[in-house]
Amino acid sequence: MQKVALVTGAARGIGLGTARRFLAEGWRVALLDIDAAGLEAAAAGLGAADRVLALPCDVAEPGAVFPAVQRAAARFGRLDALVNNAGTAVFKPLLETTPEEWNRVLAVNLTGPFLATQAAAPLMAEGGGGAVVNVTSISGLRASTLRVAYGTSKAALAHLTRQQAVELAALGIRVNAVAPGPVETAMAKAVHTPEIRRDYHDAIPLARYGLEEELAEVIVFLCGERASYLTGQEIAVDGGFDAAGIGLPTLRQARRNL
Ligand SMILES: NC(=O)c1ccc[n+]([C@@H]2O[C@H](COP(=O)([O-])OP(=O)(O)OC[C@H]3O[C@@H](n4cnc5c(N)ncnc54)[C@H](O)[C@@H]3O)[C@@H](O)[C@H]2O)c1
Repeated sequence: MQKVALVTGAARGIGLGTARRFLAEGWRVALLDIDAAGLEAAAAGLGAADRVLALPCDVAEPGAVFPAVQRAAARFGRLDALVNNAGTAVFKPLLETTPEEWNRVLAVNLTGPFLATQAAAPLMAEGGGGAVVNVTSISGLRASTLRVAYGTSKAALAHLTRQQAVELAALGIRVNAVAPGPVETAMAKAVHTPEIRRDYHDAIPLARYGLEEELAEVIVFLCGERASYLTGQEIAVDGGFDAAGIGLPTLRQARRNL
């Protein structure tokens, strides 16, 4: 039986990498994204038309999310996994973040996963259960400047993960979160200056960014049978960023030179 996953924010980046990984492991995949043109190109680029469905949709719109999730289950006949990956960021100082910006970030990053999971859970339960993975962030685990809305939305999503895990266990649905550190997406390549990269490398024990494939690997693992006793957890896939506390740059440098 070919399993079915729905991945939100799948037109590019970690979501598209995750869709690719699902296909490689024999799943069928519904890709959902607000960027209809990007989504169409991404779906075509996957080259598996019979196993791929594109769903243009804003995850923050209840009236759009429910029909989109239902379309995925109707097209493939079942739904086994949901990856709530779509996310948006406004990086501004706390005192300059407008109510509209705050509300939009919370709507996409927190309400989106709430709605999509509400829509998907009954469909998964019909097939005997399933798995949800919420993509949070290192910014929800550690506070940083310019991330008042983004970081707060991701910390709330980590708690929503636990709420969902506790309630949906009765339906045979496991719910976990993956918290990426900085990932080498096209966007990061375009906007991260050499100075920003150096700072991240210095703060991350593995001294590099993560790859989309490395995130996809953990997300797909969490959706599958090999993770059958794992629920309610947030796994930081971050090269050790979250584990590291305060450290002196000079001493870290000395260690690297050993
Ligand atoms: N890239 C990183 O370094 C990093 C680090 C930590 C967490 N994350 C999280 O990982 C997830 C994916 O990040 P990415 O870097 O691949 O992002 P990205 O910006 O490259 O891709 C996000 C996708 O989500 C879509 N999207 C945005 N708003 C949407 C909405 N309202 N409805 C439907 N789709 C929407 C976008 O169109 C885009 O295709 C996000 O939740 C992000 O917060 C990323």
